[in-house]
Amino acid sequence: MVGEVLAALSPRDTDTVIDGTYGAGGHSLALLSHVTKGRLVGIERDPWVLRRGRARLEREAPDAASRVDLVHGSFADLEDTLRDLGLDGFDVGLLDLGINSLQVDEGGRGFHRDDETLDLRFDPTDEMTTDAATALSTWSERALADALHELGGERLSRPIARAIVRRREQGRQVTTAQELAALVAGVYRRHGIRRQRIHPVTRTAQGLRMVINDELGHLERGLTAFLRSMRPGARFAVLTFHSGEARVVKRAFRAAVKGEHADLPEGMLFDWIHRGAVKPSREEIQANTRARSCQLRALRRVA
Ligand SMILES: C[S@@+](CC[C@H](N)C(=O)[O-])C[C@H]1O[C@@H](n2cnc3c(N)ncnc32)[C@H](O)[C@@H]1O
Repeated sequence: MVGEVLAALSPRDTDTVIDGTYGAGGHSLALLSHVTKGRLVGIERDPWVLRRGRARLEREAPDAASRVDLVHGSFADLEDTLRDLGLDGFDVGLLDLGINSLQVDEGGRGFHRDDETLDLRFDPTDEMTTDAATALSTWSERALADALHELGGERLSRPIARAIVRRREQGRQVTTAQELAALVAGVYRRHGIRRQRIHPVTRTAQGLRMVINDELGHLERGLTAFLRSMRPGARFAVLTFHSGEARVVKRAFRAAVKGEHADLPEGMLFDWIHRGAVKPSREEIQANTRARSCQLRALRRVA
């Protein structure tokens, strides 16, 4: 979706850019090739990913690196970040939500179902966030089932939550991603469900990850912070991969365009860059199955 993002954001050479989900820096590098004089702020919640992203920037765009500030933190705190950097707002903003292929392929923190550790925190240095193994050994059956159902969309949420609690009552905690994957696969088998397009644990892991990291809470706060920080004429785009996230973005953007957003100052006017969501091309979905559920929404602040 890089082409679609660039088309929506129309980056200009002196723009100030905020990439709220810096990741490996793929979108930022594409934006920097158009923003040849302006500044880019990249925010990333995962300190390990941020180190990888910084190394790639220094390797692939050493000339641009002096115009880039990389910040470890959440995009939800954008207004504090801008204040710390002495910026009054931005011209181009991007959020590309969800997890990163680096976290799945190399992290070893439970993002891959073969991982030995079941952590699933974006920021393992954040003591306020519970890791997944602790959640599985302490949360009530009801809280577990709700997480799997509401954010994972898992239809066997109750039997899976029951199996987790029964196992820990027997003194056997679920502590690795492999154990969780085997437990969920067992529940599916007992319900006579055999062939699946995705591995049975995928929805469970997604629900747990989203609740542990309070991803919808950060998104709600982040959207408000981004909208409030848009300079006149600024463009802001969000890529979502989850229907719950897409709903939150649609609601916030619609309220902003209608002038009904309770947390925006009066007189700030917004318009759609394109009505409705842009979806990836069939070629992109074939090349990258994760793109299947991707939606791009974008708006501009009226100058
Ligand atoms: C889909 S990836 C972004 C990929 C990036 N656009 C690229 O081109 O490489 C999403 C990233 O956002 C990070 N992330 C998730 N929630 C965040 C938050 N609240 N604040 C900052 N970063 C966050 C994740 O750790 C992950 O690295």
